[in-house]
Amino acid sequence: MKRIDHICGPFGFRMLLAVLLAFPLLLTSQRAPNEKQESNLTQMKEIEASIEDILGQLTLEEKVAMCHAQSKFSTPGVARLGIPEIWMSDGPHGVRGEINWDNWGYAGWTNDSITAFPALTCLAATFNPGLSHAYGSSLGEEARYRKKDVLLGPGVNIYRTPLNGRNFEYMGEDPFLASEMVVPYIQGVQQNGVAACVKHFALNNQEKWRNYVDVKVSDRALHEIYLPAFKAAVEKGNVWAVMGSYNKFRGQYCSHHEFLVNTILKGDWAFDGVVITDWGSAHDTREAALYGLDMEMGTGTDGLTTTLTNAYDNYYLANPFLEMLKSGEVPEEVLDDKVRRILRLMFRTNMNPDRGMGRMNNQEHLDVARKVASEGMVLLKNQGQFFPLDPDKEMTVAVIGENATRSMTQGGGSSELKARVEVSPLEGLRQRFPKATFLHTLGYSSGPSVYGRVEPAPYDADSLRQEALAMASKADKVLFIGGLNKSHLQDCEGGDRENLRLPFGQDNLLRDILKVNQEVGVILISGNAVSMPWVDQVQGILQAWYAGSMAGHALADILSGDVNPSGKLPFTFPETLVENAAHSFGEASYPGIKKDQEYKEGIFVGYRWHETQKIKPLFPFGFGLSYTDFKVSQVKTNTKKYGSNDTVTISFDIENTGARAGAEVVQVYMGKPDSKIARPIRELKGFHKLDLKPGESQTAEIRIPVSSFRYYNEDISDWALEPGDYSLYVGNASDHAYSTLEIAVRPD
Ligand code: BGC
Repeated sequence: MKRIDHICGPFGFRMLLAVLLAFPLLLTSQRAPNEKQESNLTQMKEIEASIEDILGQLTLEEKVAMCHAQSKFSTPGVARLGIPEIWMSDGPHGVRGEINWDNWGYAGWTNDSITAFPALTCLAATFNPGLSHAYGSSLGEEARYRKKDVLLGPGVNIYRTPLNGRNFEYMGEDPFLASEMVVPYIQGVQQNGVAACVKHFALNNQEKWRNYVDVKVSDRALHEIYLPAFKAAVEKGNVWAVMGSYNKFRGQYCSHHEFLVNTILKGDWAFDGVVITDWGSAHDTREAALYGLDMEMGTGTDGLTTTLTNAYDNYYLANPFLEMLKSGEVPEEVLDDKVRRILRLMFRTNMNPDRGMGRMNNQEHLDVARKVASEGMVLLKNQGQFFPLDPDKEMTVAVIGENATRSMTQGGGSSELKARVEVSPLEGLRQRFPKATFLHTLGYSSGPSVYGRVEPAPYDADSLRQEALAMASKADKVLFIGGLNKSHLQDCEGGDRENLRLPFGQDNLLRDILKVNQEVGVILISGNAVSMPWVDQVQGILQAWYAGSMAGHALADILSGDVNPSGKLPFTFPETLVENAAHSFGEASYPGIKKDQEYKEGIFVGYRWHETQKIKPLFPFGFGLSYTDFKVSQVKTNTKKYGSNDTVTISFDIENTGARAGAEVVQVYMGKPDSKIARPIRELKGFHKLDLKPGESQTAEIRIPVSSFRYYNEDISDWALEPGDYSLYVGNASDHAYSTLEIAVRPD
């Protein structure tokens, strides 16, 4: 309490206490005004008054200091007033190990190993917003326990190309899915009094050239594809911080971007939180001051972090900013707006005495990690019911592949974790299948996961191959556990993949294994789509992602049938790279030419492209098999004609017709076949995941506001609704509908 007394001293203890005690209520309120909300509003006003009070006591220098880093992951407080420092940490999948004060090295603490949650592609694949909330609240608890005020995640950059090295940190290719999943994650984190920081705003859809690539994209694609998840994070998730991206958009760096930050984020969406740079994404003091940046982190320009005694004072938003303020070139009101936002963030986090204490490494968090992992794994192929494998059977299983034992919480860049526990696939399988004899060999090898460079593989490829073939030939079944990894030019920050293929000779190895044993199941550990020249020859394929602390147990849950797979792909697997929209228009569209890039496919990203161009994907968005079967019938809408403010209610019966309990994700896509403008054939507008026991039937509903049928009309710079006929495709993948419903929308 000492610290609080300090803060309260100057501006009225009683008022602050009243505000703070009620503060948790303020954080979540969203419904129509009622008595409680009225009082929340009053309290909110009191907080704003307190902010003004503090603001009046701060010197110009103190205010400027609050706008930039004092170390790699913290900003200074104001010691004389008891205003605390702000501490931040990566990232989206767990709280990162402590980093040194002034360089990127790990600090070597012994109390910072944590629960590693599955990567966000896996979370998105659950299509389960409730689970996203559990993920966020568990992660927020860990962040709180580690004394972090801001968690640098989640990431919602859209999956545009399968080469993007950071796709694993994001929520897939569909703006609606990402929006639905990001909101509960944020709410879960923030209920702990820890700010989520949604990133990277905006258009950081590739790692290659991320520091300077200048993206051009239509307003329509910006609003329909690339911004909705950020908008949902702000308007529905009430996120308290947003991280700007490294890249440029239409000639200006995104972290201080007049249109993106001032007009859209802080203007149209009324974001009242803090805009933080990515680490080193500020480039200009005037722009940073005027175009919405509130906090500058990680700047290392001109050798600042190495050549000067206090590099932080030389940040764009430090002394150069102070000088501009003193000379009147930038009005003080600009600074005050930043400091107000920073103080607001503090009242929500480290100046809120009601926030919980947090918890870390407890069983509940491991359970959440395991549930997300097993619910997110996607069964892509299951010939002759190859899976599940019977845990009571004696059998010899050759587990081939480096990813059977490789740590996947290490590497990958800023999302790297120091997991207290990481159960490998091999270990998980050994524990769950005690009667089976597991043989294991790498089959191929790659170098360690170091950042920014590729290290050579330590072993001789041919010897590994020979050993794998010998092992495969004497096994009853082969589980090939491969995919990508967290090394540079794989699924890793700072670089993109070079092609769609499996790396390290895995395709050839699989081809040779199939010559000696046809009973092969492939487990792909990756955050990205890969090509599969062996798709027709193998018996089973499971997309198992980067699954965190409980990876091996979750895999065993699925392979044993303890958990029936219910994950659905959050992005399309194209057969070849050029079949992906971003790669269909040459270099100008990816990776760009001489720093300039144009997203030539416009709104036709992912399945929107495949459907429109009639390019059959290898595996479509929304697809995933189960060990049971579902029958969906009686699909209907509540009426056939709707006004623009109405909601379409689609009801259906679903029956589990198989012998195992399971879950299905029923998905509704909208199309406007006679549209006057170019529109995707289908766009996801609703989904519902249902758990059903064997033989069980349920009736369920999906509600879709007609307003979500709007498109972004560039002529009026606003959303517009086309009246007329719409088709609703109710199915279980972007290319599979059980039923198509026709409805009409009346003109206003
Ligand atoms: C990444 C961010 C991360 C930051 C701090 C940057 O390189 O792009 O996502 O939060 O570093 O580690």
